[in-house]
Amino acid sequence: MNKKILAGLCLWSVSSVAIPVLAADSDPQQCLECHEPIEDWAGMTPEQIIEAARAPDNKRHEANMALTDEQLRLIIGVLIPPK
Ligand code: HEC
Repeated sequence: MNKKILAGLCLWSVSSVAIPVLAADSDPQQCLECHEPIEDWAGMTPEQIIEAARAPDNKRHEANMALTDEQLRLIIGVLIPPK
């Protein structure tokens, strides 16, 4: 099989799995309404971001309370890709 087609197929199968997972509740867009992740969360580890995202004293974060660590991790992985 032609290599380009093979690579295309791989990409397609990867994204068709990843997109439904992200589309559910872990839509990175919900953080972008208020945040500029690269600037706002500079120097923070994913663990610190998850903790801050669910800190109960932040009224603006009410929607985040419903998210699991796993969902937040997915979102954060998209917004600030690991180097
Ligand atoms: C409705 C607006 C809003 C949304 C949506 C929102 N945040 Fe925030 N977030 C805030 C505000 C306001 C602060 C406090 C900023 C400050 O103290 O300067 C904050 C603070 C934070 C902080 C601490 C660092 C900082 O920027 O001050 C983190 C980390 C964070 N948010 C993560 C998230 C994540 C992850 C999401 C998406 C799952 C999210 N936030 C969605 C409003 C929002």
